[in-house]
Amino acid sequence: MQTQGLTPIEAADPAHLVAQALAARQRAYAPYSGYQVGAAVLCADGTVILGCNVENAAYPATICAERVALTAAVAQGRRDLVAIAVATRDGGSPCGTCRQVMAELGPEMVVYITDAQGRYRTTTVRALLPDGFSGASLQR
Ligand code: THU
Repeated sequence: MQTQGLTPIEAADPAHLVAQALAARQRAYAPYSGYQVGAAVLCADGTVILGCNVENAAYPATICAERVALTAAVAQGRRDLVAIAVATRDGGSPCGTCRQVMAELGPEMVVYITDAQGRYRTTTVRALLPDGFSGASLQR
């Protein structure tokens, strides 16, 4: 899912990205947990790429909203990821697997975590995953 590019002013305003994550959350396919999640990734040029969680009757086949958005960004040729907004009903924090993928694809990203009412907090990938494993280890 991709949305129209934001203007620079909109891109600088986290509320716009948070609103996109809230909209993406409405598309969640979560019949098993009922826990709907939306994500919106902001690229340097203002493009926003959306994701939602997509569950499966074979539970481990479920994919989180953040990874849907992040992998879609890569598939669309995007590597310039500057921020991600994540929306849940309660402002829940991203899971460990999603943090690892954020660190791989957007280590400099700012992360906005919002509840369903749009009350958000601001953090970073570096704060969410300190001392994480990275490709640097594979090059030594
Ligand atoms: N979920 C996400 O989409 N992102 C996270 O970071 C945590 C969990 C989803 C997976 C599953 O569909 C539901 O939330 C409950 O775990």
